[in-house]
Amino acid sequence: MESPEFVPAELDAVVAWRDELDRAGRKLVFTNGCFDILHIGHVRYLREARALGDALAVGLNSDASVRELKGLGRPVNSEGDRAEVLAALACVDRVMVFHDRRVDGLIDRIRPHIYAKGGDHRPETLPPEEREALRRVGAEVRILSLVPGRSTSATISRMGGGGAGTKRRPRLAVLGSGKGSNFRAMLGAINEGRLHADIAVVISDVPGAGILDLARDAGLPHLVVDCGARRARIDAAGAKDLVDRIRASGADLVILAGFMRILEEPVLGAFPERILNLHPSLLPKYPGKDAWVQALRAGEEEAGCTVHLVTAEVDAGPILKQARVPVEPGDTAETLYSRIQVQEHLLLPAAIEEYAANFLPGLQP
Ligand code: GAR
Repeated sequence: MESPEFVPAELDAVVAWRDELDRAGRKLVFTNGCFDILHIGHVRYLREARALGDALAVGLNSDASVRELKGLGRPVNSEGDRAEVLAALACVDRVMVFHDRRVDGLIDRIRPHIYAKGGDHRPETLPPEEREALRRVGAEVRILSLVPGRSTSATISRMGGGGAGTKRRPRLAVLGSGKGSNFRAMLGAINEGRLHADIAVVISDVPGAGILDLARDAGLPHLVVDCGARRARIDAAGAKDLVDRIRASGADLVILAGFMRILEEPVLGAFPERILNLHPSLLPKYPGKDAWVQALRAGEEEAGCTVHLVTAEVDAGPILKQARVPVEPGDTAETLYSRIQVQEHLLLPAAIEEYAANFLPGLQP
């Protein structure tokens, strides 16, 4: 039987609960953090925090704020998963997710009796706005010692991953609807050492798509996500499934290699600045379908292809890399497109390699 979905506490409910505790003469302890990959250091810290008062509320950094604090490769686990794991601890009474990297707003609302903080902090080294908020609400500040060697980074490092002191190759989720020649080119580039990455999963919206056969033949995880009946869009259930599958694969980057549906929320928000798309034109010219046909019909002397970051506006995100292809006299749509594809096969792996090197610094080979 599937268990009901876990829902983190709403701030208003935590505030009301705090007032109840206060009326009963009981003390609320509040702490906050990322709590990505829970380890014994977290558990001891939270137990100690709980023992300072009568109840413990934890403010959990949202995925976006963890990324801001710790870099693009983090969090390893999503905010929903992290919240549910934390809430399962006997010493944790409430978990709420917060989106700001600063915590003073939350302190002002919750008005904890005791504020617990871990690490090398001393009360006077807390950020000034945090100290100010704690003073305003009259909270007692308690600094708890961390358990040496028991950190998420150390855990990842022991796993041979991208934590402090070690580097691992970026993991790619590749999405495609078609024959997958660009995916094949990525595999070639990986084998030849031009692309230092691993394929986490290949996902298609089209059962039987060639890209899935290529993944199967290469012994790589591959699956179909049912994106719904609306052409070029993804319905709500499909979008949720897509996000879940990509997250479950542990991918650091999502590569659209001929994925013919438009990505919207919640997919975009789940992987901000981590989705790259390949498009067969020199963007911003000719977004949309059959871009090379549009270029040919417009009488362009030059066509090409682009790798760009995916944003809410279709084919309009920041351009990462382009390759140019002259339009030859007598070109047909087919001859032009086949020359563009030759360039695509070089461009996509090169763009991924560059992007990973520049924006996933912890993950380089
Ligand atoms: C590629 O030409 C890519 O540029 C295009 O789909 C093709 C996939 O080919 N993508 C788009 O048009 C996205 N708007 P492939 O399956 O052989 O890699």
